[in-house]
Amino acid sequence: MSNYHVKNLEEYYQVYRKSIRNPELFWEEIAEEHFVWKKRWDTVLSYDFSKPEVKWFEGAKLNITENCIDRHLRVRGDKTAILFEPNDKIEEAQHITYTELHRKVCKMANVLKEQGVKKGDRVCIYLPMIPELAISVLACARIGAVHSVVFAGFSSSALATRINDCEAKMVLTSDGSFRGAKTIDLKGIVDEALESCASVNTVLVVKRTNTDVTMKEGRDAWLAPLLENAFDNCAAEVMDAEDPLFILYTSGSTGNPKGMLHTTAGYMVYTAHTFKNVFNYKEQDVYWCTADIGWITGHSYIVYGPLANGATTVMFEGVPSYPDFGRFWEIVEKHKVSQFYTAPTAIRALAKENLEFVDRYDLSSIKVLGTVGEPINEEAWHWYNDNVGKKKSPIVDTWWQTETGGIMISPIPYVTPTKPTYATLPLPGIQLALMDEQGEEIKGNQVDGRLCVKFPWPSMARTIWGNHQRYKETYFSAFEGKYFTGDGALRDEVGYYRITGRVDDVIIVSGHNLGTAPIEDAINEHPAVAESAIVGFPHDIKGSALYGYVILKETGEGRNHENLRKEINQIITEHIGPIAKLDKIQFTIGLPKTRSGKIMRRILRKIAHNDLNNLGDVSTLLNPEVVQNIIDNRLVVAMK
Ligand code: PRX
Repeated sequence: MSNYHVKNLEEYYQVYRKSIRNPELFWEEIAEEHFVWKKRWDTVLSYDFSKPEVKWFEGAKLNITENCIDRHLRVRGDKTAILFEPNDKIEEAQHITYTELHRKVCKMANVLKEQGVKKGDRVCIYLPMIPELAISVLACARIGAVHSVVFAGFSSSALATRINDCEAKMVLTSDGSFRGAKTIDLKGIVDEALESCASVNTVLVVKRTNTDVTMKEGRDAWLAPLLENAFDNCAAEVMDAEDPLFILYTSGSTGNPKGMLHTTAGYMVYTAHTFKNVFNYKEQDVYWCTADIGWITGHSYIVYGPLANGATTVMFEGVPSYPDFGRFWEIVEKHKVSQFYTAPTAIRALAKENLEFVDRYDLSSIKVLGTVGEPINEEAWHWYNDNVGKKKSPIVDTWWQTETGGIMISPIPYVTPTKPTYATLPLPGIQLALMDEQGEEIKGNQVDGRLCVKFPWPSMARTIWGNHQRYKETYFSAFEGKYFTGDGALRDEVGYYRITGRVDDVIIVSGHNLGTAPIEDAINEHPAVAESAIVGFPHDIKGSALYGYVILKETGEGRNHENLRKEINQIITEHIGPIAKLDKIQFTIGLPKTRSGKIMRRILRKIAHNDLNNLGDVSTLLNPEVVQNIIDNRLVVAMK
C-alpha cells in the first residue's frame, strides 16, 4: 500500500475540496490504488436519499478477508497481525502472524461451513476479547455469512432480542470470560437466551475459563476439536460490493435496538482509508484500540481497518484497573504501542488515580492518541495530553457512529492544530451541514445546530435489518435529502466542529449508547412500579449517568426505598445489562406531562442537572403541581 498522508493543512484543504468537487473520482482513485478486487466496479456511486438507497462500487466483486489477510501473506506473512494481551499479566501475550491468522480464519471458516452456515446466513458472536472473536468475525466474512457481534456484557434477554431480530442460525461463544478479577459465565447466559430463540440450531463453544458448562446434546459443541480437524485453506467467497458484511445493534430512542446493516466494498474502502490517515499509520507501528469488538469501534478500528492496512493490532482482554490502574500503560510500554485509541470515560477514570501509575512506564513509543464515543471534557483532554502524550502526541478526537461505519470528523495528526473538546474538521469526502429546527441549513461560522451529512460516504449503514422504513424515518426524515445524526454540534470561527451531544432520547453512558425507552420498559415491569422516566445527568467518570424518576403503585408505597432501588437495578441488569443501571432513583408522585400526555423530559433533565433557573413555563402542563414536588425531593448529584 502506498502511503497517503496529507502533509499540512493546506494539503488537507486541497484534498478535501477535491473530494467534494468530484466524490466519485476521489473514492475511485483510493479504491483502485489500495485494494484487491476480483472484478472492477461498473458504477462508483448511485444514490437516492428519498428512498433511501445508497450503492458504492456496484458491479465489483471482492472478499474483504483477501484484503485483510491474503494479500499480506507474501509481503508480511511473518508480521504480527493480532497481538493478544490476556486479562492476566502472568499469561503470555500471543503474537498471531498474518500467515497464522490466514490458517486460523480458514479453519474456522471451514468449521462454519461444515456446520451448515451458508452465504447470507446470520451468525451471532458472543465472545470475550480473545483472538477467536476476531477470527470468527473474519471467518464469517470469508464465507459470506453475516456476523452479528453482541457485546459480551449484554444480558441474556438483550442477547435473545438481538438473535431473534436477525434470526441467527448459530451462536459462537465461550465457556466464560475473564474481566479483571471476575469470571463471567457466558455459556450460561447464552443457554438462558436460547430458551426463547427458535432460529439457533448450533452453538460452538471456545474453552477459555474452564468454567463448568452444560452442553446441550445436538446443539452445542466445543470448538477446539472441530478446528483441529478442519482443513486449513478455504477459498474466499466471491462477494458483490453491496452484499451484507455485518449487522451491529445500536440503541434507538424508542423500541428495539436497531440492527445497522453494513455492506462489503464501501465499508472496506472507508475504514481502511480513515485508519491510515487518522492514525498516521506506518508499517512498523503497533496500534492499539482499547474498545471491545462488540462495538463498532472494534469492528472498524481493531479488525477491518488495521488488517486491511497490514497493521499489527493489539487486542486486550482485560480492564484498565486490573491488577492495578497502570495496566494500560504497562501494555503500551511492553509492546511499544505507537497509536493508542480509547474512550473519554476510561481517561477520566484513570485520571482520578495516582499519576504514579502512568509515570512508572515508558510511553515514548506513542505518536498518536485518540478518543471516541462521547464528548471529551477539557480537563480529561489536558490530562491525556500532558501525562500520556507528554504534550508531543497529537490527540485525535474522532467523531462517528455505529451508523457511519467509520470516522467522520477528526483532526489529521501532525496536520490539523488540535483544540480541546473539538473533533475539528470533516475528513475528505464528508459533507456536513448544521440545520436549524425549521429545517434550514445554517451557513457560516460561529453557529450551532443539528448535525447532518449532505452526501453519501462509502461506509454508511445501508438499512436497519428487517425495517427499512425505520431506517428512513430515523435518519432521513428529519431533514429532507440529508442524513441526520441525532447529534447537536457547533462550528467555531475557523470551521471546527464540536459535538455538543445527543438531541434525542439517547443517553451516552461511559461511551455506550442507551435509549431511554427500553430502560423505562424494563423498570415498568417491576410489580410495584406504575411509571418511570429516565434522563441523563453529568457524571465525572461516565460522562453521563442515568437518573430515574419512578412513580410507585399503591402496592409499592411504604416499601423500603433502598430495596426497591436494588430490585429496579436488578431488573435493568437482567433486561439490558449492568451498563444501563441507574445511578439515582427518585420516587415521585407524578411526572410532568403535556396536555397530550407526553412526558416533559426537558424539565426532568434540568432538575437532574440541578439547573432550576430555566425550567421554562410550566403552567401549560397537565399537572404543573408535580414540578415543585419533584424539585423538593430531588436527589443531590455530585457534579464537577
Ligand atoms: O453522540 C455521538 C457520540 O456517540 C454517538 C455514537 O455512538 P455509537 O454508535 O455507539 O458509536 C460510538 C463509537 C463510534 C454519536 O452520535 N460520539 C461519538 N464520538 C464522539 C461522540 N461525541 C462527541 N465526541 C466524539 N468524538
